[in-house]
Amino acid sequence: MTAPDGPLVAAIETSCDDTSVAVVRAGREELALKSQTQIEPHAALGGIVPEAAARIHVEAIDAVWNACLSEAAVDAAELDALAVTQGPGLPGSLLVGLGFAQGLAYALDRPLVPVNHLEGHFASPWLNDGNPPEFPLMALIVSGGHTELVYGAAPGDYRVIGRTRDDAAGEAFDKVARMLGLSYPGGPAIQRAAAGRDGSPFELPRAWLPGGSDFSFSGLKTAVWRLVHDQLGPVEAARIRAANDGAAGIDDAEFVADVAHAFEVSVVDVLVAKTVRAARQMRAVAITLTGGVAANARLRAALTAASPVPVHVPALKHCVDNASMIAVAGSWRLARGEVASGPLEPEPGLALA
Ligand code: KG4
Ligand code: ZN
Repeated sequence: MTAPDGPLVAAIETSCDDTSVAVVRAGREELALKSQTQIEPHAALGGIVPEAAARIHVEAIDAVWNACLSEAAVDAAELDALAVTQGPGLPGSLLVGLGFAQGLAYALDRPLVPVNHLEGHFASPWLNDGNPPEFPLMALIVSGGHTELVYGAAPGDYRVIGRTRDDAAGEAFDKVARMLGLSYPGGPAIQRAAAGRDGSPFELPRAWLPGGSDFSFSGLKTAVWRLVHDQLGPVEAARIRAANDGAAGIDDAEFVADVAHAFEVSVVDVLVAKTVRAARQMRAVAITLTGGVAANARLRAALTAASPVPVHVPALKHCVDNASMIAVAGSWRLARGEVASGPLEPEPGLALA
């Protein structure tokens, strides 16, 4: 029986490169969050390798689950339900979490709630927040895999009004960082390189895609590549490109800082302008900023400064992929009775609305 102060939900998130488990009460109070992030095995390769990611989830999940329940001081028998990310994400990685969660739900005889990873990001500002966002709201979800502008009328009632036509914002950060010889993940590295600069001699393009709320970052990436090409000279640039070895070559820290700054400002300008415009058009009473790129200080500051309504940004640990946000969205779905009625398959391309 669900406790009067709200259901106790354990969630499992393995859609990408984090093996994450959380226990959350009443869709907002995080009792514990344990994550193991696979940065090291992929760092040398400058990105995530799907087969490796799935294998590392298999190796990690049991220990992460045990550590999380132990930190929450919760016995599995006390849980009211389990929630698990069904998609979008890497099929092999999703499968590990789904298999684990289905086994537990069966063994514990508890309902299992399949959750859309994007609804998880959408729900993340509700965690540990005494003053959560009000509806209707405009949500900017920006991560390594997604760049979506979502209008939320109520929990479960979403309309995706814009998305990227090519790279996700975080992916652009990662690729540009690589071109500049910075470390992976690229977002924090670019932010560090650009910090302290209040201008840049370079002006990079912004893809406004007039009138719409979609995004595009491929032209910006190409423009950065041209700058790098000019800086290094064609022979060295071609060698680096052929070797797919961005980490070589550029040793001019001033140049790297100038390009990082120009790139960051260009991305932030477009994200902020489109989010604020959409919020005004749809008469949203709040804006939320979620996903790994929400960790970006310039983006947080610029959006807060430009927004006519309150801007909610979750704690850093809830911006990156984490199971607590899956537990919040799972609790919303549990309240709507949206529980699994049979075996669950990964939905790598699952859309939000
Ligand atoms: O949400 P997340 O952990 O994983 C995905 O679902 O993709 O987001 C990771 C992404 C990476 O692309 C990373 O470079 C970016 O978030 N990121 C940042 C910052 N910190 C992480 N991007 C810009 N500025 C940051 N400070
Ligand atoms: Zn994510």
